[in-house]
Amino acid sequence: MTTPWTAARIRATKHQRKLACLTAADFAMARRMDAAGIPLILVGDSLAMTVLGYPNTLPVTMDQMVHHTAAVVRGVRQALVVADMPFLSYQVSISQALENAGRFLKEAGAGAVKIEGGAERVPVIEALIQNGIPVLGHIGVVPQNIQVAGYRVRGRGEEESAQLIADARALEAAGVFAMVVECVPPDVGREITRAVGMPTIGIGAGPDCDGQVLVTPDLLGLFDDFTPKFVKRYAELGKAMDQAFAAYLGDVEAGHFPAPEHCYGGGEGMKK
Ligand code: KIV
Repeated sequence: MTTPWTAARIRATKHQRKLACLTAADFAMARRMDAAGIPLILVGDSLAMTVLGYPNTLPVTMDQMVHHTAAVVRGVRQALVVADMPFLSYQVSISQALENAGRFLKEAGAGAVKIEGGAERVPVIEALIQNGIPVLGHIGVVPQNIQVAGYRVRGRGEEESAQLIADARALEAAGVFAMVVECVPPDVGREITRAVGMPTIGIGAGPDCDGQVLVTPDLLGLFDDFTPKFVKRYAELGKAMDQAFAAYLGDVEAGHFPAPEHCYGGGEGMKK
């Protein structure tokens, strides 16, 4: 019997172990990740791009995120499932943020939510936590701000790195159980990690964060168009899929599939 991961248990890993985290958007992927022992599975709003085909994360809706989160939760037995709060689901008002975050726990069965931003998010984070909703922070590059700030490495230069550390401390004081740190130089990732008492989970933030997270389709090599510098590809599933689809097409067109072993015998059950 394995102990399920909770926000509190993730928080307690600081200085104890490294955390390997991944994103998931569907049941099959989540089930495999969970079986592999991944402790934290993020239903990231990057699914807007990797699953739904949008150009960035902004269009994905609460309903879409709840739908994908519920599918992931159904595949998981022990990982903590964290749902990403989509663009404008927590910025408009605290009461709207509470209702939206509550949907992830009530309707989808998530264990926590993630919110992008620094000190400016403290009031909403405090309100969620006071109402029983654990929060994962997210600083550095915050893709929901792409139209204002673009997608570039953060924390280069003293002013920006000091701001990031101040943001990290503010999130810690607000009560987040961990925080994603995205696209900062490794020394800044290290400084932020030293500055706070809860785990930092880096993505493009160097080796000294307490954990790492990758967007799973990147790690699996599902897309050929662009691989960010911080990604290590652990498989070439895109190429494997191309080969499988081409082989299937060829077999069907040539009449090689189905073969006798794929056909039912008379009067036998479904398995025969
Ligand atoms: O949406 C996402 O996948 C994320 C990761 C980049 C951490 O927020």
